[in-house]
Amino acid sequence: MDNKQTLFERIGGMEAVNAAVEIFYKKVLEDETISHFFTNTDMKKQLAKQKAFLAYAFGAPLAYTGKNMRDAHAHMKLNEAHFNAVANHLVSTLQELNVAQELIDEVVEIALSTKDDVLNRKPTETPAV
Ligand code: HEM
Repeated sequence: MDNKQTLFERIGGMEAVNAAVEIFYKKVLEDETISHFFTNTDMKKQLAKQKAFLAYAFGAPLAYTGKNMRDAHAHMKLNEAHFNAVANHLVSTLQELNVAQELIDEVVEIALSTKDDVLNRKPTETPAV
């Protein structure tokens, strides 16, 4: 495999990110442990923001103009269980789309790299995952 390609390219570009985000939010909204966070959310805008963020985080050559992960989530007082639920929906989405496990591993690594920010905690508070 050509590792000089970004994860974004290897995963299948914008088309793959778009498909993943559509399925991912269906799962999120069906999960009653977390769906209430999105009660007042414009999901059309949210999907567009998440597509842009993930494309950027996977190395797409585009500028991300949305909020950073700490500012976007700070007011929600999210906990580990909320984060894990979201991460699990992301993984099962990618599995459903038959994304190779090694690419899923890279996605998980990127998702986990946002965890301290999403949960609004200091990096030193990170427990072993
Ligand atoms: C890997 C972890 C996560 C990533 C990458 C992520 C990504 C994002 C992005 C890109 C935005 C939009 C920021 C903007 O407004 O510019 C956002 C907003 C939001 N996220 Fe997350 N998120 C993560 C985890 C979570 C979790 C665990 C929850 C709750 C269970 C959550 C709930 C929300 C909500 C409710 C919004 C705001 C929607 C609104 O504006 O109404 N996120 N997130």
